[in-house]
Amino acid sequence: MPLSKQQVRQRIAELDSDPGWYQDIDVGDGMRTKSRVIWGEDPDHPRRRWEQIAGAIPVDLSGMSVLDIGCNAGYFAFQAKQRGARYVCGVDLKPGYIEQARFCAEAKDLDVDFRTLSIYHLARLDRQFDLVLCIGLLYHCKYLMTALEQVAAVARTTVIAESAIDPGDSDIPYVRFVRSSQYGGPDARGSRRLPGHWHPNMTALAELFREVGFSDVRPLFTDGGRGAVIATR
Ligand SMILES: C[S@@+](CC[C@H](N)C(=O)[O-])C[C@H]1O[C@@H](n2cnc3c(N)ncnc32)[C@H](O)[C@@H]1O
Repeated sequence: MPLSKQQVRQRIAELDSDPGWYQDIDVGDGMRTKSRVIWGEDPDHPRRRWEQIAGAIPVDLSGMSVLDIGCNAGYFAFQAKQRGARYVCGVDLKPGYIEQARFCAEAKDLDVDFRTLSIYHLARLDRQFDLVLCIGLLYHCKYLMTALEQVAAVARTTVIAESAIDPGDSDIPYVRFVRSSQYGGPDARGSRRLPGHWHPNMTALAELFREVGFSDVRPLFTDGGRGAVIATR
């Protein structure tokens, strides 16, 4: 039975405690998940991010399988499902985000397979995906090459990877180590401190994907301290 408007509103409020709603998701009937900024993100995050990558994703994903790594509450996974993907899986390290994602899937009546799983354990999915999305996660990965190898292992054809980057304009690939982390403690909450551990420049982001087996790697966008590539085998 579909959730009533009151049930949806109540669940949104319940799920707004730790970790809170990072993603602003339309759950129908004029209701949205996000009512406050958690980490300094856009108030309607990730709408802008979606606009930056949407053009690189086929409008019709019929027959395709899609994996959203670090899916949070499922925004990109839902976009893929709404573009007709046959099978969509979303994984995130934090059970609280997967709980949010499963609630949103129910409210939106979309069939997406959400699982609590680390990027380091993607092999446990025991399958490959036609399209892999890895948005806003690589710079959090302490073991960056291990994470990339796991991403490559589950990607049959294409990966779209977005990350915090070092905006330096250099043809020399380098990855800058950033000590402060959003996950570093309560003092970081709501701040605009640089997130994560590793910030590649765009040259390095592309080289890293070539290193793990992608022959065609192209820049998708840069936007200050953020950037993305599309990597194809
Ligand atoms: C900055 S958020 C980005 C979320 C979403 N992709 C977006 O762009 O809105 C990073 C996400 O990655 C998840 N995450 C962090 N470390 C992870 C790991 N090792 N494996 C899988 N997910 C992880 C976090 O829980 C969080 O949901």
